[in-house]
Amino acid sequence: MNALKLLGINAVIFSLLAHPLAYSYESGDIIIRAGATQVTPQEDSGPVKLNGSTLSLGGGDSELNVDDNTQLGLNLAYVFNKNWAIELLAATPFEHTASGSGELAGLDIADIKHLPPTLMALYYFDTTSKLKPYLGAGVNYTIFFDEDLTSEANSTLAGLGLTGGDVELDDSWGLSVQAGFDYELSDRWLVNASVRWIDIDTEAEITFDSGDKITADLEIDPFVYTVSIGYRL
Ligand code: NI
Repeated sequence: MNALKLLGINAVIFSLLAHPLAYSYESGDIIIRAGATQVTPQEDSGPVKLNGSTLSLGGGDSELNVDDNTQLGLNLAYVFNKNWAIELLAATPFEHTASGSGELAGLDIADIKHLPPTLMALYYFDTTSKLKPYLGAGVNYTIFFDEDLTSEANSTLAGLGLTGGDVELDDSWGLSVQAGFDYELSDRWLVNASVRWIDIDTEAEITFDSGDKITADLEIDPFVYTVSIGYRL
């Protein structure tokens, strides 16, 4: 075996050692992920109330529904060691329509936007494969903004003598849990999929020119699905 050939074999062995099939995360790694994030509310609303009493137009009552929305999800994870990381979920603002059910069925009431930044500890299971499953738990803060009554709701409410409605949703603190995995495409690139559940509880309040108030307690409690591409720095 000549020296050149030996050098060649050494180079192959070296590259196998330096680039094993699976790459384990190391302290100080930062993983940036970007993809599609869908918020799917599992909403549970209390009755819609007028000045504290159940709003009843024809003897029944009404609740609120919230539709799904998908946005660009961004997240950043900082790796402490091969098992533990901390992750921040961010996204472009989600936009939902709150509509009525019961007596208000079919009425789109308000368009709302929110940002749900979520900070979580992630636990990566020990694995020697390219598939790295993890579980996470942490805290969410959801900020609601740009809440607007729809023109449909404005005219319906005006018919009840309620004009100039201004709608607001309280911000929410809550727990969040998730399960997900990274799958390594190379030593730097990965694909990721995750599902989170976030406890988002708020109160929706519409204040009118007359001082009358319509309120409803609203648990949005969504499942949040993300599929993304990641890069490890
Ligand atoms: Ni809840």
